[in-house]
Order: sequence, then structure tokens, then C-alpha cells
Amino acid sequence: MKLLVLGATGATGRELLVQALRAGHEVTAFVRNPAALDDLKSRVRVLTGDATSVVDLAAALPGHDAVLSALGSGKSIRSDIASRAATALTEAAEDSGVRRAVFLSAFGVGGSLAQGSVMQKTLYGTVMRSLFADKAVADEVIRASALDWTLVYPVALTHGPATGTYRSGEKLPMRGLPRMSRADVAEFMLTAAAGTEWIRRTAVLSSSR
Ligand SMILES: NC(=O)c1ccc[n+]([C@@H]2O[C@H](COP(=O)([O-])OP(=O)(O)OC[C@H]3O[C@@H](n4cnc5c(N)ncnc54)[C@H](OP(=O)(O)O)[C@@H]3O)[C@@H](O)[C@H]2O)c1
Repeated sequence: MKLLVLGATGATGRELLVQALRAGHEVTAFVRNPAALDDLKSRVRVLTGDATSVVDLAAALPGHDAVLSALGSGKSIRSDIASRAATALTEAAEDSGVRRAVFLSAFGVGGSLAQGSVMQKTLYGTVMRSLFADKAVADEVIRASALDWTLVYPVALTHGPATGTYRSGEKLPMRGLPRMSRADVAEFMLTAAAGTEWIRRTAVLSSSR
């Protein structure tokens, strides 16, 4: 597939790039800072842009089979990047010919928090409240769009290796504060993008236990 990856310089975005290349996909990385991908530039097409700009996204999207977003706010727990980028992307996609889109959000956003464990409800309902409110707005923009969207709601993320043993479902039982690797999230996103099972659905992901 020809894939456009947003947030490609982030921790999950880089996993998406590496795994997509390994799977034989043609990959375009949409980034603010191309120098951060110098080590991959012989294998990845790198486009410079801002993910909150309709103009930048409209220039990047055409010619791709799917767009994958691993955009995030880094270490900041206050940001409006998710809602601004979702608004820009859904508008830019309208005339782009690109319909398939897989977005990384988070477990605990919107109605999913009700399914959480006591610890998840405590953490996500306080420390992450502002960030998750922005993601909730973004996710509703995406759900209301004409895109063939998939929203991905993983639990807390690690930099660990891919295990292939994570769980996925529209709802999952949660206990404590489960974690899973960004590598497993990237694997799910790439598999979902290539198939039809998760179109217009939200996938909760968690570790195997
Ligand atoms: N940490 C967790 O436990 C956890 C759990 C569930 C879900 N998530 C979600 O997973 C996602 C990815 O997190 P992560 O830690 O892997 O990534 P991250 O380190 O937060 O990386 C974010 C990426 O977004 C890019 N970005 C931000 N604003 C942009 C803009 N205006 N235009 C273009 N690019 C922009 C950054 O580019 P620069 O390099 O230029 O800054 C970077 O590539 C986030 O949405 C996060 O909330 C995280």
C-alpha cells in the first residue's frame, strides 16, 4: 500500500514507519522536522508540513491508499493538536481521493472511560482529563466524517518490543493499569489499514493480561 504517516517522528510514528517498510509498503512521512528522519530518508519519502494546516495536508494526501495518524503532544498534558488536526484532515481529505484513515487516540477517551478499571478512571479522569477532552472532540469529528475511519484506543504505552499477544475488541475487560508496547499498536494500525474489519469502528487495545 501507499501509506501517509502523520506524527512519524514520534515514538509510535517511527514504529509505524519501520514496520510499514518491513512489510513492503511505500511510505510517506508527514513531519515538521525532516532532519529527525535522516536515518530513514533513503527509504521513506519525507514531506514537511503542519498537521493542523488544511493546505499542507491537502498537498500531501493525494496518491495514498491510506493515512495513519500517530500525532500527539509529546510530554504535554495540555494540547489541542488532536482536535485541530482532525478538523484539518477531514476537510483536506474531502477532495483528495483518500478515504481510509487509521487514527491513534487513547483508551479512556469519551465513553470508553466508563469501561475502565478504578485506577484507569482515577488517572485518566484527572491528570489526563484536558488532553483526553481534546481527543474526544477529535474523535467525534472523525466519526462524523465521510472517511473510512478506524479509531485506535490503546491503554498506556511502553517502548517495549512487539509481542503480537495484545488483545483487541470494541470493549475489553480492564484491571489495574495495563500497558502495551507502541510496537504492538503500530502492528495493529497497519493490519487494520490493510483490511476492512475495523472500518468505521473503534478498537480498544490492551496487553494480553
Ligand atoms: N503515552 C501513552 O501511554 C499513550 C497511551 C495511549 C495513547 N497515546 C497516544 O498515542 C499518540 C502517540 O504518542 P507517542 O508518545 O508515540 O508520540 P509523541 O511522542 O507524542 O509524538 C507526537 C508526534 O506528533 C507530531 N506532531 C505534533 N504536532 C504536530 C503538528 N502540528 N504537525 C505535525 N506533526 C505534529 C510530533 O512531531 P514533532 O516531532 O515535530 O514534535 C510527533 O511526531 C498520542 O496521541 C498519545 O496521546 C499515548
